[in-house]
Amino acid sequence: MKIEIQSSPNEVAEFAAKYIAERIKEKPEFVLGCATGGTVVLLYQKLVEYSKLGLIDFSHVVTFNLDEYVGLPREHSQSYYTFMSYHLFSHVNIPEDNIHILNGGAKNLKDECEQFEELITKSGGIDLQILGIGRNGHIAFNEPGSFEDTTTRIVDLNYDTILANSDGRFFSNSNEVPRQALTMGVATILNAKEILLLATSGGKSEAIALAVNGPVTPLVPASFLQKHSKCTFIIDDGAASRLKNK
Ligand code: PGA
Repeated sequence: MKIEIQSSPNEVAEFAAKYIAERIKEKPEFVLGCATGGTVVLLYQKLVEYSKLGLIDFSHVVTFNLDEYVGLPREHSQSYYTFMSYHLFSHVNIPEDNIHILNGGAKNLKDECEQFEELITKSGGIDLQILGIGRNGHIAFNEPGSFEDTTTRIVDLNYDTILANSDGRFFSNSNEVPRQALTMGVATILNAKEILLLATSGGKSEAIALAVNGPVTPLVPASFLQKHSKCTFIIDDGAASRLKNK
């Protein structure tokens, strides 16, 4: 595991965006795993900027998103489908057919998850997965208690996650937050050839310290990333503040 400490959220986003732009230049049919959440908004802003400057071509890029709420229609303002369209996809030249986001409104959610895993395999696997991290150590919606062998599945959201997403940034109160989601599993994420985890602010420092310095345990799903051979945490000073041996 590699740790890149940057001095601000802007530098975290810039470091990650430049890296991703380089990788897409090397391999135009890049398979990019996308994340949602507040942390990656700046990263997508930079990717859009680079695309407008002609520095990234998304025309052959294929994407898979980490997760989606169950029960929200795609067009709902807080669906991850809407988030991705708003922050990235509607601003770049990616073909609609290359975008894969789990459908939380599918009639058969189990089939939806199985098909998603098959599509990832058919695409040749995820070249680079972008991740955020929850204050409780979750990655995607793999909440504490998620095991290493989990694949894409239906999960119940942890109460911390419901509260974190109802602080006015996304939903205005906790009753509006769906209670379930579809998420790539820990094994699905670990199968990505490369992983970039982004975290900013002191609020993430405990989760980062546990993920990096703590034991590998389902109680901190991000700690499984210690087992990945090509995983980089790109974090700011605040998120790094509790790391040992910085
Ligand atoms: P955040 O979410 O970027 O909104 O903090 C990250 C996550 O929960 O994975």
